[in-house]
Amino acid sequence: MAVLGGLLLRRDPLTLIDHVVREHHRLAYVRLGSEHVYLLSHPDLVHELFVTRGRQLRKGRALERIRLLLGDGLLTSEGERHRAQRRLIQPALHGDRLATYLPVMVATARRYDRRWRDGSEIDMAREMSTLTLEVVGRALFGSDLTDIADPVASALGTLLDGSPRHLLPGIDLLLRVRTPAQARLMRAVDTLDRIVREVIARRRAAPAGTDLLATLLTQIDDDTLVRDEAMTLLLAGHETTATALTWTWWLLAKHPEVAAWLHEELDQVHLGHQGPDHTGCSGATDQQATNLATRAGPPAAVTRPGPSALLDRLPRTRAVLAEAMRLRPPSWILGRRTLCDVELDGWTLPAGSLCVASQWALHRDPRFWSEPESFQPQRWLTPDGHFDESAPGQPRAAYLPFGLGARICVGLAFAWTEGTLVLATLARRWAPTPVPGQVVTPRPAVTLRPSAMRMVLRART
Ligand code: HEM
Repeated sequence: MAVLGGLLLRRDPLTLIDHVVREHHRLAYVRLGSEHVYLLSHPDLVHELFVTRGRQLRKGRALERIRLLLGDGLLTSEGERHRAQRRLIQPALHGDRLATYLPVMVATARRYDRRWRDGSEIDMAREMSTLTLEVVGRALFGSDLTDIADPVASALGTLLDGSPRHLLPGIDLLLRVRTPAQARLMRAVDTLDRIVREVIARRRAAPAGTDLLATLLTQIDDDTLVRDEAMTLLLAGHETTATALTWTWWLLAKHPEVAAWLHEELDQVHLGHQGPDHTGCSGATDQQATNLATRAGPPAAVTRPGPSALLDRLPRTRAVLAEAMRLRPPSWILGRRTLCDVELDGWTLPAGSLCVASQWALHRDPRFWSEPESFQPQRWLTPDGHFDESAPGQPRAAYLPFGLGARICVGLAFAWTEGTLVLATLARRWAPTPVPGQVVTPRPAVTLRPSAMRMVLRART
């Protein structure tokens, strides 16, 4: 099993995980080289370990590689330092602060809406990645990051596109060896580092705004620490959302009946006035961008709903996104290392063991989902048509696109809002179709990216 497991993990980890979960319904043990790996295949155990026993864990092996790029930001830190960072950053991504980012989300989507041309061919993964990078740059850092889309894509490509080698033993040693790929990665990291430090220096010289970067600069004196947080939010905050949106376009194209069901909603809802750009970020005005009323509702200029009121009017859009993240979870695996011996389900997991839960497996487990392989956004709606994340009645921890416990995604509300608004804005006018002849498969690296995603833009008539 060890050799087979190692090979399969390198070549086809999704198949390996599916296989193990089918054979072991609660907990499986795999020895990979010197590693003791436990795969948790039941949501109750995932909840017990990640939430109830969360303090007995630290983050897993994948982060060794990511730390190269992100330093000691929120994603990679541990213990008291992590808790302090979380207290600082979380409020800047929720509630009233989140509401201030809405105009940027809609205005950026509108810019793509105007730029897209009927019949042209695009790389959808790249397009969504640039779009979400622009949103994060403008919303959280008050900066136009369009110019760095290329270096970011190149660094991420080098970092994310590799096989899931980071899960295998020996990666720590491997990272110290200077291979050409390693040298490319370091060059890309240097470029990103320079760009982020320039943004920080500019804002230190001329403090402005109330965005997330303003919060970081006021609270943290050491610019290297600000750099680590900024880099973390920049990268964690755009690639995952881009991956979710990319798969959503793909699934909609493959299921025209679902696309038609979504369009019924979008044809009824008006995302503000389509007027000229007054924001400097090419879209609607702030007021216009946050106005969302049903056609029969009050005049757009009067309403200004917050994020939750706004999302409440788009239950089908949210359901489509939820279902896409079920079938193609951008984060497909969660790893933790035990800090001490941990008792779980009658087993003792020795200190230092690697514990893994896979969203890929949990989201498609027939024990908890009816027709798990089929794309059915309707499952997320209550009988009266409201979106409800627990609508399918699955046990808690059977659906974990954003993780769980103390390390649950800090950008969860931001991501839901952005994903829903971008999809609502663009799908209202566009129904992209895949370029024929492509084989599109999920590639399990740090995120579950598509192998390729060339699409032809089709304007809805
Ligand atoms: C669809 C979009 C997104 C998905 C699927 C996603 C997924 C996740 C997951 C699964 C985790 C937990 C990882 C673990 O426990 O090991 C996480 C953590 C995190 N995410 Fe997200 N994320 C998304 C969007 C965002 C956005 C928009 C931001 C920032 C604006 C963000 C920033 C972070 C950070 C900083 C962490 C670390 C939190 C901590 O450890 O306290 N993410 N994300």
